[in-house]
Amino acid sequence: MEREQKPGRRAILGAAALGAGAMALGGAGTATAAEASGEASGKGHGLPVPTVIGHRGASGYRPEHTMGSYQLALDLGADIIEQDLVPTKDGHLVCRHENDITATTDVSAHPEFADRKTTKTVDGTALTGWFTEDFTLAELKTLRAKERIPGNRQRNTLYDGRWEVPTFEEVLQWAEREGRKRGRRVWLYVETKHPTYFRKLGLGLEEPLAKLLRRYGRHKKDAALFLQSFEPSSIQRLRKLVDTPAVVLLSTINSRPWDFIEANDPRTVADLVKPEGLKWIAGYAQGIGPDLSVIIPRTADGKLGTPTSVVKDAHAAGLVLHPYTMRNENTFLPADFRRGTDPNAYGDAFGAFKKYFETGIDGIFSDNPDTALLAAEDFRKSR
Ligand code: G3P
Ligand code: CA
Repeated sequence: MEREQKPGRRAILGAAALGAGAMALGGAGTATAAEASGEASGKGHGLPVPTVIGHRGASGYRPEHTMGSYQLALDLGADIIEQDLVPTKDGHLVCRHENDITATTDVSAHPEFADRKTTKTVDGTALTGWFTEDFTLAELKTLRAKERIPGNRQRNTLYDGRWEVPTFEEVLQWAEREGRKRGRRVWLYVETKHPTYFRKLGLGLEEPLAKLLRRYGRHKKDAALFLQSFEPSSIQRLRKLVDTPAVVLLSTINSRPWDFIEANDPRTVADLVKPEGLKWIAGYAQGIGPDLSVIIPRTADGKLGTPTSVVKDAHAAGLVLHPYTMRNENTFLPADFRRGTDPNAYGDAFGAFKKYFETGIDGIFSDNPDTALLAAEDFRKSR
């Protein structure tokens, strides 16, 4: 089948939104904040720039990857809501950051599943716990989600036990309902987790994902959905199945994608963010999602250092940039934006957002989408 492989950054974001991005780069963009919303222009996908992606929903306030977290992110105004996907034993795609569900569900309190506790090596790391691929969907649905980092986010434990593990199909149906209610499309940002690992188990993620995208009309190049993966081969596989825009995630600068390690491909993230590497990515994807340290490395004392040329180089290759992840708590912020001595108190998140937005990125993943939205609005007004 003939398929356009590279709609490009302009087609993804829309001309008005790109204008705002160009201004952020100090270029010749002329879009007003209203135009940058894209809604007024009617062009392209209509995403504002910088775009705010609700990381695992609104995971700063609710247990991640629950319908409660997704609903709050949408209600707060996040432009896109993120899902990470792993499979069940019977091949259903469910929303979890990883297949090890020990920390994010109450599985350890279920005596009927005690014998499922096991040790596995996932992407080279030995893990002991309970894993989605050992549970049918019906079994998984008897569990309840809980806060991943209660030591940092004690308040979120109020919601422990309230929600199930959602399936991706339930999220697609929710997004359709919410879209009808709101009279606009609800954007999703969907990641395949450990795709090489699962393919070896006979639980390939891409085919069932593509099937769902087709069933819910999110398989076209103008779909309100970004696909994402840390494994480029997963994106390449997906792009043979659907035309949905896709983003290659890039971890820290000296890391290597797990599929590269398995295939003896020596390239690191440092290679992939060079012009040649970016050109290679632009051959099958529309964007990159780098770790924030790839955009602004931290100094030895944990402060923000000097921005790299990655934003400029990625834009030159026609790629959108959506780095991850901003969180409001001191412990996660660069040292120069921490306030006071409590690691779990909020620091100067607005100051950090400003620094990142000034690099010209097109959007950002945040656990606190309300903070990110205010920061994005401030940034647009300042241009
Ligand atoms: O997908 C963007 C960001 O979420 C990548 O990091 O580990 O939170 O999935 P992770
Ligand atoms: Ca993710």
